[in-house]
Amino acid sequence: MATPQIAAILLAAGRGARAGSPDDGPKQYRNIGGKAVLARTIEAFLSHGAIDKVLCLIHPDDRELFENAVGNLARIVTVVEGGSTRQASTLNGLRALDAAPDFVMVHDAARPFVSPELLYRIVGALDDKHGVLPALTVSDTIKTATPDGMVAATVDRSTLHAAQTPQAFPFARILAAHEKAASENRMDFTDDSAIAEWAGIEVRLVVGAAENIKLTWPKDIEMADLKLSGAPAPFPDVRTGTGYDVHCFGEGDHVTLCGVEIPFDKTLSGHSDADVGLHALTDALLATCGAGDIGTHFPPSDPQWKGASSHIFLAHAAQCVREAGGRIANADITIIAEAPKVGPHRDAMTARIADILNVAQDRVSVKATTNEKLGFVGREEGIAAIASASVIYPGSVPQ
Ligand code: CTP
Ligand code: MG
Repeated sequence: MATPQIAAILLAAGRGARAGSPDDGPKQYRNIGGKAVLARTIEAFLSHGAIDKVLCLIHPDDRELFENAVGNLARIVTVVEGGSTRQASTLNGLRALDAAPDFVMVHDAARPFVSPELLYRIVGALDDKHGVLPALTVSDTIKTATPDGMVAATVDRSTLHAAQTPQAFPFARILAAHEKAASENRMDFTDDSAIAEWAGIEVRLVVGAAENIKLTWPKDIEMADLKLSGAPAPFPDVRTGTGYDVHCFGEGDHVTLCGVEIPFDKTLSGHSDADVGLHALTDALLATCGAGDIGTHFPPSDPQWKGASSHIFLAHAAQCVREAGGRIANADITIIAEAPKVGPHRDAMTARIADILNVAQDRVSVKATTNEKLGFVGREEGIAAIASASVIYPGSVPQ
């Protein structure tokens, strides 16, 4: 049997609104590691032994950007104008493949890290009946939310997969599915597998690749550039935050310090569990991304935080840091107390904090000191804690 003909459609007609900086042009034309995203994606397909033809969908306004970005490659690929949605662009591409190939791969040009191995994995799973979808299982616990920002439910993630591209299909079948969707005015599909599913074409899952990310946000482009540029940024964006907290003693039989309950003849009083260590560290982390302080996120006036376990506050701060693109380098807490003794609980505390922050334990430090019987701590009226955290953000410190 003759080797099947495989064409690749590269979708590059989007505006890249989420990537920001519109004056720099859509994300597929930005440079990462000194070369345009789109040039990298085109090369990945052109250089692959299993792919016979590459077609590129671009926006009518982007002709010049395209030629500047891809240079000589512009003469090797077929260029077609895209439509107003990803689905419309794909249909334009499918229609332009007049010398009908046996199979077609549809790929987001904004995924420049597609590897030869992934392409072979997809080609290996092709047959004339099914589509093929590279996807990754989901590792985070997934929640649904109410419109006012509360958790509605936890979703069973065991069957969930995050779809990537390229998605591959028998050409005639996916073209017919796209035409049918267009003729029925169903233009709301966000990937080609969804159209195949709707049209009754079965789609087989193959394992995707973690590095095959879709550049979507500014930080994705910065990270991609850093990854490819090799050299560390000359002025890495290292930020340090500090935090301080005090709670006074009240009647009780234990204190909670750094997430660990310690039996004691008093307790720390406060709105939540009064864990001074975690509160100070929460402030330190929030400070690294200008996200206010613990009270901004969890107002003491809000009854829902009464008696709350403070790991919620710290986990939220770590999430704020990560959403801003930060990586936690270290966290350090000093507890200032005459009693109870912290030493016997120190390992449990560092383990607990490392777990909440999702970092290795050697990046967390908990220390304690007495106040030499001076001041309110010395009079055993309460416990204080100070904390610092260092977080590395993508990019460089601006001049
Ligand atoms: N795409 C396209 N035609 C469109 C819309 C999107 O060819 N009308 C392409 C994009 O260029 C991108 C891919 O489809 O390579 C995936 O879409 P997405 O990541 O959403 O890119 P944009 O639509 O450009 O970005 P945004 O949604 O942030 O505006
Ligand atoms: Mg889009």
